[in-house]
Amino acid sequence: MSRFVVKTRADSPELRKAAMAIEQAAWGALGFLNFTRAHFAFYQDLLEEHADCQLCLVDEVTGYPVAVGNCVPLSCDLNNLPPEGWDWIVESAANNGDKPRNALGALAISVPGIHRSKGLARRMIEEFRNLAAAKGLDGVIAPVRPSEKHKHPFVPLEEYLNWTDDRGRLYDPWLRSHSAAGGKIVKPAPRSMVVEEPIAFWEMWSGREFTETGEYAVEGALAPVAIDRNLGVGKYIEPNVWFAYAA
Ligand SMILES: CC(C)(COP(=O)(O)OP(=O)(O)OC[C@H]1O[C@@H](n2cnc3c(N)ncnc32)[C@H](O)[C@@H]1OP(=O)(O)O)[C@@H](O)C(=O)NCCC(=O)NCCS
Repeated sequence: MSRFVVKTRADSPELRKAAMAIEQAAWGALGFLNFTRAHFAFYQDLLEEHADCQLCLVDEVTGYPVAVGNCVPLSCDLNNLPPEGWDWIVESAANNGDKPRNALGALAISVPGIHRSKGLARRMIEEFRNLAAAKGLDGVIAPVRPSEKHKHPFVPLEEYLNWTDDRGRLYDPWLRSHSAAGGKIVKPAPRSMVVEEPIAFWEMWSGREFTETGEYAVEGALAPVAIDRNLGVGKYIEPNVWFAYAA
């Protein structure tokens, strides 16, 4: 019998706090992603507004979550997903207005280091699907962030998607997990997250100086950051992969 039970941030202030701690621990090193326009403008409010969709997989023995999953309901055309991904889901959900929400947009799954490689993230993907079904939605869409792509920032995403491991499976473990959980790859989302900030911002995150215009690898980034000395800015465009799941 499973010792894990699904709860949500809406269930208690303690759970909300624990969920935030887990998210911070999992994503802290990638804090530059918090500065896409959509993230900065809408993300935290959206999680509060849809607290019942912020899932926590709680260990019944310790009472503490072992995995957290963030998703939001939105109105969208499941057969016509855009080249933008994560930012688009956040902006669409925040500006949804009165349109009927027909899908769940998955935004993040966070598993603390000590609980990884036990299948908990896959369980969370299943729970997104269960939630979509319980809400009578058509399915789940996810702009998935390939977890090993940061080791190959200069390899184009399309090429990376063709890589396989020695067993002929998808090379990237996180794409593999989405596939194993029943997801179908729809297409790349080449502009899933866009961060454009002053060069000093990128120097702070990378711990190095950028004295010349060019494309630079930054730790954790899936593609190079384009530094433009004339404009004084660095632009990071993160490619993700659209997955879709029937509810
Ligand atoms: C990416 C992340 C969510 C993956 O978490 P995870 O719990 O380790 O992932 P999974 O549930 O997919 O683990 C599956 C692996 O565990 C293994 N496993 C062990 N026991 C298992 C079980 N009972 N059931 C399923 N898989 C199991 C699987 O074999 C699989 O490895 P394989 O693909 O090499 O065969 C986690 O590393 C993380 O939080 N990273 C930081 C944040 C992040 O990048 N999130 C993803 C972007 S939203």
